[in-house]
Amino acid sequence: MRSKILATGSNLPAKILTNADLEKLVETSDEWIVSRSGIRERRIVESADTASSLSLPAAKTALSRANLNPGDLDAIIVATITPDMAFPSTACLMQNMLGCRQIPCFDISAGCTGFVYAMKIADAMITTGQYRNILVVGVELLTKITDWTDRSTCVLFGDGAGAAILAPTDDDTGLLGSYWSADGSFAPLLEMPAGGSRMPASEKTVKENLHTVKMLGNETFKAAVRAMEEASLEGIKSAGLEKADIDWLIPHQANIRIIEFTAKRLGISMDKVIITLEKYGNTSAASVPIALDEAMTSGKIKSGDNVLLVAFGAGFTWGSIVFKA
Ligand code: ACO
Repeated sequence: MRSKILATGSNLPAKILTNADLEKLVETSDEWIVSRSGIRERRIVESADTASSLSLPAAKTALSRANLNPGDLDAIIVATITPDMAFPSTACLMQNMLGCRQIPCFDISAGCTGFVYAMKIADAMITTGQYRNILVVGVELLTKITDWTDRSTCVLFGDGAGAAILAPTDDDTGLLGSYWSADGSFAPLLEMPAGGSRMPASEKTVKENLHTVKMLGNETFKAAVRAMEEASLEGIKSAGLEKADIDWLIPHQANIRIIEFTAKRLGISMDKVIITLEKYGNTSAASVPIALDEAMTSGKIKSGDNVLLVAFGAGFTWGSIVFKA
């Protein structure tokens, strides 16, 4: 038995923050941001928005496209580093908002690799035969943990949510292979230092802006390039495929240069790569499901196509999913 993606959905905030807007906030330029990252604009939430409220429309769209009701769900997994709060999980809050039965609901934290990790967990739960319909969400409100005085990070991030419903299938479509890995020795390169048990919130942590993303961009870039290639090749191998068999590459949308490098190493031309970062920036765990949803609903991905999802993020974590549409 395999698991397959029955349907997807996504939700982006309406408010757009352009590179020109950022030029007014920090010493930067549209030219620098576009040439170094490929990002032109990003979406940002309103202050009342939360991970669950942003995810809800994405989840409802995915459910309705899958012809399922919330009561048909057997589990909810939410991948996020910006949950509504430290606990309870955003997945439990969504279960209540959707009006689901009493089912297992939990969040996972794997940075930008979160959605790929969550898909791998859902696939394992389904292929053991214990669960049928699983809602997998990737959501991030990174602009709520952005240091707007730090030009090296504030130009990169955006907000959004993406969702997919996984269910069992016995035909030849669905998840063919996957890969995941992590290396915690890189943890200090990309982190939010305060707000956990190491450095609980205090006047000092707020004053020092420690409740925001800190990233050593260049070191992270080098590790990302290596890990995206490794995750892609391992995922393709575990699917029993060759590089040439991949019809579509849907990479994490952090930097166009990382994406171009990954595509080149795989021998995939850029017209077979789904790119959303120009308009949405880096939405962390939401970036792969948003791009996946756009690729599925635009009709780019055709029945029988082999699709590679690949991501890299805080931890460091990295991973991939290969599926036949
Ligand atoms: N505008 C203008 N200049 C800037 C800006 C800016 N916004 N930001 C940095 N600079 C300057 C730096 O100060 C530096 O100046 P210096 O040479 O005088 O010291 C110069 O530009 C080059 O800086 P680098 O950091 O070396 O630039 P780089 O080419 O590495 O690009 C970037 C930076 C875009 C952040 C890149 O390193 C990157 O994409 N890193 C990986 C991001 C990633 O994949 N993250 C993982 C996922 S995120 C997650 O999990 C939440």
